[in-house]
Amino acid sequence: MSDKDNELVSSRRAFLGGAVAAGAGALTTGAAKAQTADPLITEIQPWAQGFGDGVDAVRYGLPTEHEGDVIRRNVEWLTADTVSSINFTPIHALDGTITPQGCAFERHHSGAIDLKKDDYRLMINGLVDTPLVFSYADLERFPRENHVYFCECAANTGMEWAGAQLNGAQFTHGMIHNMEYTGVPLRTLLEEAGLDTTGDLSGKWVFVEGADASSNGRSIPMEKALDDVLVAFKANGEALRKEHGYPVRLVVPGWEGNMWVKWIRRIEVMDGPVESREETSKYTDTLEDGTSRKWTWEMDAKSVVTSPSPQAPIKHGTGPLVITGLAWSGRGAITRVDVSKDGGKNWETARLAKPGEKMALTRFYLDTDWDGSEMMLQSRAMDDTGYVQPTKTQLREVRGLNSIYHNNCIQTWLVRSNGEAENVEVS
Ligand code: MTE
Ligand code: CO
Repeated sequence: MSDKDNELVSSRRAFLGGAVAAGAGALTTGAAKAQTADPLITEIQPWAQGFGDGVDAVRYGLPTEHEGDVIRRNVEWLTADTVSSINFTPIHALDGTITPQGCAFERHHSGAIDLKKDDYRLMINGLVDTPLVFSYADLERFPRENHVYFCECAANTGMEWAGAQLNGAQFTHGMIHNMEYTGVPLRTLLEEAGLDTTGDLSGKWVFVEGADASSNGRSIPMEKALDDVLVAFKANGEALRKEHGYPVRLVVPGWEGNMWVKWIRRIEVMDGPVESREETSKYTDTLEDGTSRKWTWEMDAKSVVTSPSPQAPIKHGTGPLVITGLAWSGRGAITRVDVSKDGGKNWETARLAKPGEKMALTRFYLDTDWDGSEMMLQSRAMDDTGYVQPTKTQLREVRGLNSIYHNNCIQTWLVRSNGEAENVEVS
């Protein structure tokens, strides 16, 4: 490089430095082109001057340390202790739809237990011809299937009933994950135990319970049990993580997360529901008049903008902006997501990353141009049953303010001119 070139580079560098110091707002569409004088482009960097890490036997690879802020977080005041508690999926920091297990929210009623495959047993008893006990190895010998499903805790967004509470999509909407499960249909195992699935099964239920101290017992109507419920042992290709029910959990597509019993140990065929704690005093919806709805199994269509959001502010100033989020429905597939920038007055139809899949997360994008003015960002999901995600006002008209669970209302983020976002409520 000649001296003249050097001068040019350094003066350009000074200019660029100035532009950056002038604030993020200075970087617009042209930024990508102007970077040719960037030392990251013009100088050979340390990482190109030697070798990277060699390969070695690695038990499990970890994410790069540069992504150190992608953390499942708790909200300390929410629960009295950590064994009957919850942490939240950092949905603001993820893209696509598959939740890595290590990022997927955990909800335990009596802590995550350590259960070895060799110590694992699954009993099927009750109104079957032959009560059976399966080992883990037995389960692996049945034909298995792969399906992607979301699991949403009925309490997701539950803190937001009375007003805007928690400042971040992770905390308002992070009791959800979406994984590819490998498992055996529950139908196959029930048939193995001699249940006549061609006979009259009306009024029949299964009661499922886990091996942890809480047991988290739930009743599931036979129609659902025989439809798409999976006894799953892999998620996203790998063994279930301990916190998600290793070695085996139940997958109940589209239905509230509480029914997805982890460390599943027993399935009893019965001629009625048990009406256990988890389906009476908990996970039921208290209405305005103090009565409670008996069962709310299906998770209604819902969506949220994950970026920009309080934990994912706009840092690049005006110009091209990717607004993105997640949508899902426990009743079917997402067909459309609309995004509003003005608190629900005007709507633009977002682009779905791929056609919605039944009872799985759908990623949406609105590729837009931001002029720096304040936005009241909302998203509204629609599913293939024709259902449209309600506003908070519409939901309160039906459910009142006493509810905790099953809050699928439209969420609003106030995005300020400086790019920062805040959880707000529009009346
Ligand atoms: N199963 C058992 N055995 N024990 C539990 O505490 N929690 C339930 C369900 N299954 C629970 C359980 C609840 S309320 C939810 S939302 C999901 O598991 C959460 O699954 P995850 O921890 O894999 O996210
Ligand atoms: Co739950």
